Amino acid sequence: MLFPQSVRIDGATGAMSIETGRYVKRLSELRPIFHDKPALDHDVAALDDPQVYEVVEYRKPGSDIFFGTTTMEPGKVGNEFYMTRGHFHARRDMGEVYYTQSGEGVLLLQSRGGETSVLEMRPGACAFIPPDWAHRSINTGQEKLVFVWVCNPEAGHDYADIMQRGMRKLVVERDGKVAVIDSPTHP
Ligand SMILES: [Fe+2]
Repeated sequence: MLFPQSVRIDGATGAMSIETGRYVKRLSELRPIFHDKPALDHDVAALDDPQVYEVVEYRKPGSDIFFGTTTMEPGKVGNEFYMTRGHFHARRDMGEVYYTQSGEGVLLLQSRGGETSVLEMRPGACAFIPPDWAHRSINTGQEKLVFVWVCNPEAGHDYADIMQRGMRKLVVERDGKVAVIDSPTHP
């Protein structure tokens, strides 16, 4: 039998008082998703392959829900803001919740049919991610972007589609402002 448990989450850092796993994504691992490869290669060398984001999770085998935090560093590659890989779920009938704790960013969504949606990520913004919408978070601020996610552990990840084709929209800095533009490379 599973027992209830309370986990303290630090909304400024994403740290969790109980965690069952974590991983870090560094800039070199995200090379396929950024457009400005020379800028990326320069930053990987000059900044010693900086961390872009970290995921910490709380998972209990046998449960139909798990949750965790994603903490994204501020930064850009060329004019493109730091972002996560982006993914569909392997299970097309399972969505997710993203609840922003601190920082500011953009949640970019794209349906299987190619419709796009852009939601703000600010403290207090709780995003409903429907089943079969790819999702990518982007840190557009100067500070860490921290959010809590809640999902079914069987949802799984399908990274390949977004890794290979990208998303239809890009989030870039243009004239000092955050701009959502059409991707030049998405078919
Ligand atoms: Fe997800």
